[in-house]
Amino acid sequence: MSVLPQPNIVSAEFKADPFPFLAQLRATEPVYRTTLPDGTPVWLVARYNDVLTLLRDERFTKNRRSALTPEQARKLPWTPPMFRPLERNMLDLDPPDHTRLRSLVHKAFTPQLVDKMRTRVQALADELLDLVGPRSEIDLIKDYALPLPMTIITEILGVPTKDRDNFHKWSNAVVSLTSPKPTLRVIPSVWRFIRYLRRFFKVRRRDPRDDLVSALIRAEEAGDRLNEDELLAMVFLLLIAGQETTVNLIGNGMLALLQNPHQMERLRSEPSLIKFAVEELLRYTSPVLMTTERYALDNATMQEVKIPRGEMILGVIGSANRDETVFDTPDELNLAREPNKHLSFGQGIHFCLGAPLARMESQIAINTLLARVPNLQLKIDPESLRWRPSMLLRGLQTLPVKFLR
Ligand code: HEM
Repeated sequence: MSVLPQPNIVSAEFKADPFPFLAQLRATEPVYRTTLPDGTPVWLVARYNDVLTLLRDERFTKNRRSALTPEQARKLPWTPPMFRPLERNMLDLDPPDHTRLRSLVHKAFTPQLVDKMRTRVQALADELLDLVGPRSEIDLIKDYALPLPMTIITEILGVPTKDRDNFHKWSNAVVSLTSPKPTLRVIPSVWRFIRYLRRFFKVRRRDPRDDLVSALIRAEEAGDRLNEDELLAMVFLLLIAGQETTVNLIGNGMLALLQNPHQMERLRSEPSLIKFAVEELLRYTSPVLMTTERYALDNATMQEVKIPRGEMILGVIGSANRDETVFDTPDELNLAREPNKHLSFGQGIHFCLGAPLARMESQIAINTLLARVPNLQLKIDPESLRWRPSMLLRGLQTLPVKFLR
Protein backbone atom coordinates (compact mmCIF):
# COMPACT_ATOMS: atom_id res chain seq x y z
CA MET A 1 0.00 0.00 0.00
CA SER A 2 1.40 3.40 -1.01
CA VAL A 3 2.34 5.86 1.71
CA LEU A 4 2.35 8.75 -0.73
CA PRO A 5 -0.56 11.17 -1.12
CA GLN A 6 -2.82 10.33 -4.08
CA PRO A 7 -3.01 13.55 -6.12
CA ASN A 8 -5.52 13.87 -8.93
CA ILE A 9 -2.97 13.66 -11.73
CA VAL A 10 -5.23 15.16 -14.38
CA SER A 11 -6.25 18.23 -12.36
CA ALA A 12 -5.25 21.84 -12.98
CA GLU A 13 -3.78 21.99 -9.44
CA PHE A 14 -1.48 19.05 -10.14
CA LYS A 15 -0.33 20.52 -13.48
CA ALA A 16 0.67 23.79 -11.78
CA ASP A 17 3.58 22.11 -10.00
CA PRO A 18 3.78 18.33 -10.26
CA PHE A 19 7.56 18.24 -9.72
CA PRO A 20 7.83 17.81 -5.91
CA PHE A 21 5.43 14.85 -6.05
CA LEU A 22 7.28 13.35 -9.03
CA ALA A 23 10.59 13.63 -7.13
CA GLN A 24 8.99 11.64 -4.30
CA LEU A 25 7.87 9.01 -6.78
CA ARG A 26 11.38 8.60 -8.22
CA ALA A 27 12.81 8.30 -4.72
CA THR A 28 10.29 5.98 -3.12
CA GLU A 29 7.76 4.49 -5.53
CA PRO A 30 9.18 4.62 -9.05
CA VAL A 31 6.40 2.34 -10.32
CA TYR A 32 3.27 3.68 -8.73
CA ARG A 33 -0.33 2.62 -9.04
CA THR A 34 -3.06 5.23 -8.89
CA THR A 35 -6.46 5.82 -10.48
CA LEU A 36 -7.86 8.32 -12.94
CA PRO A 37 -10.93 10.31 -11.81
CA ASP A 38 -13.25 7.78 -13.49
CA GLY A 39 -11.69 4.96 -11.47
CA THR A 40 -9.48 3.51 -14.25
CA PRO A 41 -6.33 2.08 -12.62
CA VAL A 42 -3.11 3.41 -14.06
CA TRP A 43 0.59 2.76 -13.41
CA LEU A 44 2.99 5.70 -13.44
CA VAL A 45 6.60 4.96 -14.36
CA ALA A 46 8.76 7.76 -12.98
CA ARG A 47 12.48 7.03 -13.51
CA TYR A 48 14.29 7.97 -16.72
CA ASN A 49 15.59 4.46 -17.56
CA ASP A 50 12.23 2.84 -16.86
CA VAL A 51 10.44 5.33 -19.14
CA LEU A 52 12.97 4.40 -21.85
CA THR A 53 12.22 0.70 -21.32
CA LEU A 54 8.49 1.35 -21.49
CA LEU A 55 8.84 3.19 -24.79
CA ARG A 56 11.31 0.83 -26.43
CA ASP A 57 10.45 -2.63 -25.20
CA GLU A 58 8.11 -4.79 -27.27
CA ARG A 59 6.64 -6.29 -24.10
CA PHE A 60 4.62 -3.08 -23.89
CA THR A 61 2.05 -2.50 -26.60
CA LYS A 62 0.05 0.50 -27.75
CA ASN A 63 -2.94 -1.48 -28.93
CA ARG A 64 -4.90 -2.30 -25.81
CA ARG A 65 -6.95 -4.97 -27.50
CA SER A 66 -3.85 -7.10 -28.10
CA ALA A 67 -2.92 -7.01 -24.39
CA LEU A 68 -6.26 -7.80 -22.80
CA THR A 69 -7.27 -11.14 -21.36
CA PRO A 70 -10.65 -12.30 -22.73
CA GLU A 71 -12.10 -11.43 -19.32
CA GLN A 72 -10.72 -7.86 -19.49
CA ALA A 73 -11.88 -7.51 -23.13
CA ARG A 74 -15.44 -8.35 -22.09
CA LYS A 75 -15.36 -5.57 -19.50
CA LEU A 76 -14.13 -2.89 -21.91
CA PRO A 77 -16.37 0.16 -21.80
CA TRP A 78 -18.61 0.64 -24.79
CA THR A 79 -17.13 2.96 -27.41
CA PRO A 80 -19.57 4.93 -29.57
CA PRO A 81 -19.24 3.56 -33.14
CA MET A 82 -18.33 7.00 -34.49
CA PHE A 83 -15.16 6.99 -32.36
CA ARG A 84 -13.93 3.66 -33.71
CA PRO A 85 -12.28 4.92 -36.94
CA LEU A 86 -10.18 7.25 -34.78
CA GLU A 87 -8.56 4.24 -33.11
CA ARG A 88 -6.80 3.67 -36.46
CA ASN A 89 -4.28 6.47 -35.82
CA MET A 90 -0.56 5.67 -35.83
CA LEU A 91 -0.02 6.66 -32.20
CA ASP A 92 -2.49 4.01 -31.04
CA LEU A 93 -1.17 1.22 -33.25
CA ASP A 94 1.77 -1.19 -33.26
CA PRO A 95 3.82 -2.39 -36.24
CA PRO A 96 3.15 -3.24 -39.00
CA ASP A 97 0.18 -0.81 -39.17
CA HIS A 98 2.10 1.87 -37.32
CA THR A 99 5.06 1.60 -39.69
CA ARG A 100 2.84 1.81 -42.77
CA LEU A 101 0.90 4.83 -41.54
CA ARG A 102 3.95 6.74 -40.30
CA SER A 103 5.78 6.16 -43.59
CA LEU A 104 2.93 7.88 -45.46
CA VAL A 105 3.51 11.20 -43.75
CA HIS A 106 7.02 11.27 -42.36
CA LYS A 107 8.43 12.94 -45.47
CA ALA A 108 6.25 15.99 -44.86
CA PHE A 109 7.92 16.60 -41.48
CA THR A 110 11.64 15.98 -42.08
CA PRO A 111 14.04 18.67 -40.79
CA GLN A 112 14.90 19.61 -44.42
CA LEU A 113 11.28 20.20 -45.39
CA VAL A 114 10.50 21.96 -42.15
CA ASP A 115 13.45 24.26 -42.67
CA LYS A 116 11.80 25.53 -45.85
CA MET A 117 8.87 26.77 -43.75
CA ARG A 118 11.04 29.12 -41.67
CA THR A 119 10.24 32.21 -43.70
CA ARG A 120 6.52 31.56 -43.42
CA VAL A 121 6.69 30.97 -39.65
CA GLN A 122 8.77 34.13 -39.16
CA ALA A 123 6.26 36.16 -41.18
CA LEU A 124 3.40 34.75 -39.14
CA ALA A 125 5.11 35.50 -35.80
CA ASP A 126 5.64 39.10 -36.97
CA GLU A 127 2.06 39.37 -38.21
CA LEU A 128 0.68 38.19 -34.85
CA LEU A 129 2.80 40.74 -32.99
CA ASP A 130 1.74 43.48 -35.42
CA LEU A 131 -1.85 42.66 -34.52
CA VAL A 132 -1.14 43.59 -30.89
CA GLY A 133 -1.22 47.20 -32.11
CA PRO A 134 -1.18 49.84 -29.38
CA ARG A 135 -2.16 47.41 -26.60
CA SER A 136 0.28 47.02 -23.71
CA GLU A 137 -1.27 43.81 -22.37
CA ILE A 138 -2.03 40.55 -24.13
CA ASP A 139 -2.83 36.95 -23.42
CA LEU A 140 0.27 35.27 -24.76
CA ILE A 141 -1.62 32.00 -25.29
CA LYS A 142 -4.63 33.28 -27.23
CA ASP A 143 -2.82 36.04 -29.11
CA TYR A 144 0.43 34.30 -30.00
CA ALA A 145 1.34 30.81 -28.74
CA LEU A 146 -1.83 29.15 -30.06
CA PRO A 147 -2.51 30.81 -33.45
CA LEU A 148 1.05 30.23 -34.62
CA PRO A 149 1.23 26.38 -34.58
CA MET A 150 -2.47 26.17 -35.38
CA THR A 151 -2.13 28.22 -38.57
CA ILE A 152 0.96 26.32 -39.71
CA ILE A 153 -0.51 22.83 -39.27
CA THR A 154 -3.71 23.85 -41.09
CA GLU A 155 -1.59 25.23 -43.95
CA ILE A 156 0.47 22.01 -44.17
CA LEU A 157 -2.68 19.88 -44.25
CA GLY A 158 -4.55 22.28 -46.51
CA VAL A 159 -7.63 22.64 -44.29
CA PRO A 160 -9.07 26.15 -44.29
CA THR A 161 -7.30 28.33 -41.72
CA LYS A 162 -10.50 30.37 -41.35
CA ASP A 163 -12.02 27.39 -39.53
CA ARG A 164 -9.23 27.28 -36.96
CA ASP A 165 -11.40 28.53 -34.07
CA ASN A 166 -13.67 25.55 -34.59
CA PHE A 167 -10.71 23.14 -34.75
CA HIS A 168 -9.46 24.58 -31.53
CA LYS A 169 -12.83 24.21 -29.81
CA TRP A 170 -13.09 20.59 -30.91
CA SER A 171 -9.51 19.58 -30.24
CA ASN A 172 -9.58 21.31 -26.88
CA ALA A 173 -12.49 19.08 -25.92
CA VAL A 174 -10.48 16.01 -26.94
CA VAL A 175 -7.31 16.87 -25.03
CA SER A 176 -9.21 17.96 -21.94
CA LEU A 177 -10.41 14.37 -21.60
CA THR A 178 -9.19 13.10 -18.28
CA SER A 179 -9.40 9.43 -19.19
CA PRO A 180 -9.11 7.45 -22.44
CA LYS A 181 -12.85 6.71 -22.22
CA PRO A 182 -14.88 9.24 -24.20
CA THR A 183 -17.36 11.05 -22.01
CA LEU A 184 -20.73 12.46 -23.03
CA ARG A 185 -19.27 15.96 -22.76
CA VAL A 186 -16.84 15.47 -25.68
CA ILE A 187 -19.08 13.48 -28.00
CA PRO A 188 -20.67 16.52 -29.74
CA SER A 189 -17.24 18.07 -30.42
CA VAL A 190 -15.79 14.87 -31.84
CA TRP A 191 -18.91 14.32 -33.92
CA ARG A 192 -18.64 17.85 -35.44
CA PHE A 193 -14.92 17.43 -36.03
CA ILE A 194 -15.44 14.15 -37.89
CA ARG A 195 -18.36 15.54 -39.93
CA TYR A 196 -16.28 18.56 -40.88
CA LEU A 197 -13.32 16.44 -41.98
CA ARG A 198 -15.43 13.99 -44.01
CA ARG A 199 -17.05 16.90 -45.85
CA PHE A 200 -13.65 18.46 -46.43
CA PHE A 201 -12.27 15.21 -47.89
CA LYS A 202 -15.11 15.28 -50.45
CA VAL A 203 -14.07 18.78 -51.48
CA ARG A 204 -10.42 17.76 -51.85
CA ARG A 205 -11.31 14.62 -53.82
CA ARG A 206 -13.00 16.84 -56.39
CA ASP A 207 -10.43 19.59 -56.24
CA PRO A 208 -6.99 18.31 -55.14
CA ARG A 209 -4.29 20.82 -54.22
CA ASP A 210 -0.64 20.76 -53.32
CA ASP A 211 -1.23 19.88 -49.65
CA LEU A 212 -0.92 16.93 -47.29
CA VAL A 213 -4.63 16.03 -47.26
CA SER A 214 -4.66 15.80 -51.08
CA ALA A 215 -1.52 13.59 -50.96
CA LEU A 216 -3.17 11.32 -48.37
CA ILE A 217 -6.36 11.11 -50.46
CA ARG A 218 -4.23 10.04 -53.43
CA ALA A 219 -2.68 7.29 -51.26
CA GLU A 220 -6.13 6.21 -50.11
CA GLU A 221 -7.49 6.13 -53.66
CA ALA A 222 -4.47 4.08 -54.79
CA GLY A 223 -5.98 1.42 -52.56
CA ASP A 224 -3.49 -0.57 -50.59
CA ARG A 225 -1.77 1.81 -48.20
CA LEU A 226 -4.47 3.75 -46.36
CA ASN A 227 -8.17 3.15 -45.87
CA GLU A 228 -10.84 5.75 -45.29
CA ASP A 229 -10.93 5.35 -41.50
CA GLU A 230 -7.15 5.69 -41.39
CA LEU A 231 -7.29 8.84 -43.49
CA LEU A 232 -9.71 10.36 -41.00
CA ALA A 233 -7.66 9.21 -37.99
CA MET A 234 -4.45 10.58 -39.51
CA VAL A 235 -5.77 14.08 -40.18
CA PHE A 236 -7.52 14.13 -36.79
CA LEU A 237 -4.26 13.19 -35.03
CA LEU A 238 -2.10 15.66 -36.96
CA LEU A 239 -4.49 18.55 -36.37
CA ILE A 240 -4.58 17.88 -32.63
CA ALA A 241 -0.92 16.96 -32.11
CA GLY A 242 0.20 19.84 -34.32
CA GLN A 243 -1.28 22.55 -32.13
CA GLU A 244 -2.17 21.35 -28.64
CA THR A 245 1.45 20.57 -27.79
CA THR A 246 3.49 23.40 -29.31
CA VAL A 247 1.21 25.99 -27.72
CA ASN A 248 2.26 24.51 -24.37
CA LEU A 249 5.95 24.66 -25.21
CA ILE A 250 5.76 28.34 -26.20
CA GLY A 251 3.45 29.19 -23.27
CA ASN A 252 5.22 27.18 -20.53
CA GLY A 253 8.57 28.21 -21.98
CA MET A 254 7.76 31.92 -21.83
CA LEU A 255 6.45 31.50 -18.28
CA ALA A 256 9.73 29.83 -17.25
CA LEU A 257 11.69 32.70 -18.83
CA LEU A 258 9.53 35.34 -17.14
CA GLN A 259 10.16 33.63 -13.82
CA ASN A 260 13.91 33.48 -14.51
CA PRO A 261 14.59 37.02 -15.75
CA HIS A 262 18.39 36.66 -15.84
CA GLN A 263 18.11 33.72 -18.20
CA MET A 264 15.58 35.61 -20.29
CA GLU A 265 17.96 38.57 -20.61
CA ARG A 266 20.80 36.25 -21.51
CA LEU A 267 18.74 34.78 -24.37
CA ARG A 268 17.63 38.22 -25.50
CA SER A 269 21.23 39.38 -25.78
CA GLU A 270 22.46 36.07 -27.21
CA PRO A 271 19.71 34.86 -29.59
CA SER A 272 21.95 32.16 -31.08
CA LEU A 273 21.44 30.30 -27.80
CA ILE A 274 17.86 29.55 -28.87
CA LYS A 275 18.42 25.96 -30.04
CA PHE A 276 19.77 24.93 -26.64
CA ALA A 277 17.23 27.14 -24.88
CA VAL A 278 14.26 25.41 -26.52
CA GLU A 279 15.65 21.98 -25.59
CA GLU A 280 15.99 23.14 -21.99
CA LEU A 281 12.48 24.61 -21.96
CA LEU A 282 11.22 21.27 -23.30
CA ARG A 283 13.02 19.46 -20.47
CA TYR A 284 12.20 21.89 -17.70
CA THR A 285 8.51 22.47 -18.50
CA SER A 286 7.47 19.12 -20.08
CA PRO A 287 4.59 20.37 -22.28
CA VAL A 288 3.54 16.72 -22.66
CA LEU A 289 3.78 15.57 -19.06
CA MET A 290 2.97 11.89 -19.65
CA THR A 291 3.36 9.58 -22.61
CA THR A 292 0.21 8.15 -24.14
CA GLU A 293 -0.88 4.78 -22.76
CA ARG A 294 0.98 1.50 -23.05
CA TYR A 295 -0.21 -1.96 -21.93
CA ALA A 296 1.83 -4.94 -20.74
CA LEU A 297 1.33 -7.88 -23.14
CA ASP A 298 2.01 -10.25 -20.28
CA ASN A 299 2.46 -9.70 -16.56
CA ALA A 300 5.60 -7.54 -16.37
CA THR A 301 8.00 -6.60 -13.58
CA MET A 302 9.62 -3.21 -13.24
CA GLN A 303 11.62 -2.10 -10.18
CA GLU A 304 10.42 -5.34 -8.58
CA VAL A 305 6.80 -4.27 -8.95
CA LYS A 306 4.45 -6.58 -10.81
CA ILE A 307 2.34 -4.85 -13.45
CA PRO A 308 -0.55 -7.11 -14.46
CA ARG A 309 -1.26 -7.82 -18.11
CA GLY A 310 -3.67 -5.38 -19.76
CA GLU A 311 -3.44 -2.56 -17.16
CA MET A 312 -2.70 0.94 -18.38
CA ILE A 313 0.83 2.33 -17.97
CA LEU A 314 1.98 5.93 -18.48
CA GLY A 315 5.62 7.02 -18.67
CA VAL A 316 5.99 10.25 -16.70
CA ILE A 317 8.06 12.39 -19.07
CA GLY A 318 8.03 15.29 -16.60
CA SER A 319 9.66 13.04 -14.02
CA ALA A 320 12.22 11.42 -16.36
CA ASN A 321 13.24 14.93 -17.44
CA ARG A 322 14.16 15.78 -13.84
CA ASP A 323 15.81 12.49 -12.94
CA GLU A 324 18.82 13.42 -10.83
CA THR A 325 20.76 10.35 -12.00
CA VAL A 326 20.70 11.74 -15.56
CA PHE A 327 20.64 15.56 -15.24
CA ASP A 328 22.81 17.75 -13.01
CA THR A 329 20.76 20.18 -10.90
CA PRO A 330 17.57 19.05 -12.66
CA ASP A 331 15.31 21.61 -10.96
CA GLU A 332 17.35 24.51 -12.32
CA LEU A 333 16.65 26.15 -15.66
CA ASN A 334 19.95 26.32 -17.53
CA LEU A 335 19.42 27.53 -21.09
CA ALA A 336 22.90 26.42 -22.15
CA ARG A 337 22.52 22.89 -20.73
CA GLU A 338 24.46 20.28 -22.66
CA PRO A 339 24.08 17.36 -22.99
CA ASN A 340 20.31 17.44 -22.68
CA LYS A 341 18.77 14.07 -23.44
CA HIS A 342 15.26 14.98 -22.35
CA LEU A 343 12.36 12.71 -23.26
CA SER A 344 9.87 15.44 -24.11
CA PHE A 345 9.32 14.05 -27.60
CA GLY A 346 9.19 10.45 -26.41
CA GLN A 347 11.53 7.70 -27.66
CA GLY A 348 11.50 4.65 -29.88
CA ILE A 349 9.20 4.04 -32.81
CA HIS A 350 6.58 6.57 -31.69
CA PHE A 351 9.14 9.37 -31.26
CA CYS A 352 7.33 12.60 -32.09
CA LEU A 353 6.85 12.96 -35.82
CA GLY A 354 6.44 16.73 -35.46
CA ALA A 355 9.59 17.35 -33.37
CA PRO A 356 11.47 19.29 -36.12
CA LEU A 357 8.39 21.44 -36.74
CA ALA A 358 7.74 22.08 -33.03
CA ARG A 359 11.39 23.02 -32.48
CA MET A 360 11.50 25.41 -35.41
CA GLU A 361 8.18 27.09 -34.52
CA SER A 362 9.15 27.58 -30.88
CA GLN A 363 12.65 28.84 -31.67
CA ILE A 364 11.22 31.49 -33.97
CA ALA A 365 8.27 32.35 -31.72
CA ILE A 366 10.38 32.87 -28.60
CA ASN A 367 13.23 34.77 -30.23
CA THR A 368 10.86 37.04 -32.16
CA LEU A 369 8.93 37.87 -29.01
CA LEU A 370 12.11 38.69 -27.09
CA ALA A 371 13.50 40.78 -29.94
CA ARG A 372 10.33 42.79 -30.48
CA VAL A 373 8.87 43.14 -27.02
CA PRO A 374 11.21 44.61 -24.41
CA ASN A 375 10.19 44.75 -20.75
CA LEU A 376 7.90 41.77 -20.98
CA GLN A 377 6.40 40.96 -17.58
CA LEU A 378 3.79 38.68 -16.07
CA LYS A 379 0.60 40.61 -15.46
CA ILE A 380 -0.68 38.48 -12.60
CA ASP A 381 0.75 36.63 -9.66
CA PRO A 382 2.07 33.22 -10.90
CA GLU A 383 -0.02 31.53 -8.19
CA SER A 384 -3.20 32.75 -9.91
CA LEU A 385 -2.31 31.31 -13.33
CA ARG A 386 -4.86 28.77 -14.52
CA TRP A 387 -3.67 25.43 -15.93
CA ARG A 388 -5.60 23.16 -18.23
CA PRO A 389 -6.91 19.90 -16.78
CA SER A 390 -5.77 17.09 -19.10
CA MET A 391 -4.69 13.50 -18.89
CA LEU A 392 -1.33 13.95 -20.63
CA LEU A 393 -0.62 17.58 -21.43
CA ARG A 394 0.74 20.35 -19.22
CA GLY A 395 -0.22 23.81 -20.39
CA LEU A 396 -1.71 27.13 -19.34
CA GLN A 397 -5.26 28.30 -20.04
CA THR A 398 -4.04 31.88 -20.33
CA LEU A 399 -0.76 33.74 -19.85
CA PRO A 400 -1.53 37.42 -19.26
CA VAL A 401 1.55 39.61 -19.84
CA LYS A 402 2.20 43.36 -19.94
CA PHE A 403 4.97 45.42 -21.45
CA LEU A 404 6.18 49.01 -21.51
CA ARG A 405 6.35 50.65 -24.90
C1 HEM B 1 6.38 20.85 -28.28
C2 HEM B 1 5.62 20.19 -29.09
C3 HEM B 1 5.43 18.71 -29.07
C4 HEM B 1 5.67 17.81 -28.06
C5 HEM B 1 6.24 18.08 -26.67
C6 HEM B 1 5.30 16.50 -28.57
C7 HEM B 1 5.42 15.32 -27.86
C8 HEM B 1 5.18 14.07 -28.38
C9 HEM B 1 5.40 12.83 -27.67
C10 HEM B 1 5.89 12.72 -26.23
C11 HEM B 1 5.06 11.82 -28.51
C12 HEM B 1 5.14 10.33 -28.20
C13 HEM B 1 3.99 9.86 -27.36
C14 HEM B 1 4.11 8.41 -26.94
O1 HEM B 1 5.01 7.68 -27.38
O2 HEM B 1 3.25 8.00 -26.15
C15 HEM B 1 4.61 12.40 -29.74
C16 HEM B 1 4.17 11.69 -30.84
C17 HEM B 1 3.65 12.29 -31.97
N1 HEM B 1 3.63 13.63 -32.27
FE1 HEM B 1 4.33 15.14 -31.12
N2 HEM B 1 4.83 16.64 -29.85
C18 HEM B 1 4.90 17.96 -30.20
C19 HEM B 1 4.56 18.53 -31.40
C20 HEM B 1 4.05 17.84 -32.48
C21 HEM B 1 3.68 18.45 -33.73
C22 HEM B 1 3.85 19.92 -34.11
C23 HEM B 1 3.16 17.46 -34.51
C24 HEM B 1 2.60 17.65 -35.89
C25 HEM B 1 2.90 17.05 -36.90
C26 HEM B 1 3.23 16.22 -33.73
C27 HEM B 1 2.82 14.99 -34.18
C28 HEM B 1 3.03 13.80 -33.49
C29 HEM B 1 2.65 12.50 -34.02
C30 HEM B 1 1.94 12.23 -35.33
C31 HEM B 1 3.03 11.55 -33.06
C32 HEM B 1 2.85 10.04 -33.15
C33 HEM B 1 4.07 9.42 -33.76
C34 HEM B 1 4.02 7.92 -33.87
O3 HEM B 1 3.10 7.29 -33.31
O4 HEM B 1 4.88 7.37 -34.53
N3 HEM B 1 3.77 16.51 -32.52
N4 HEM B 1 4.70 13.78 -29.65
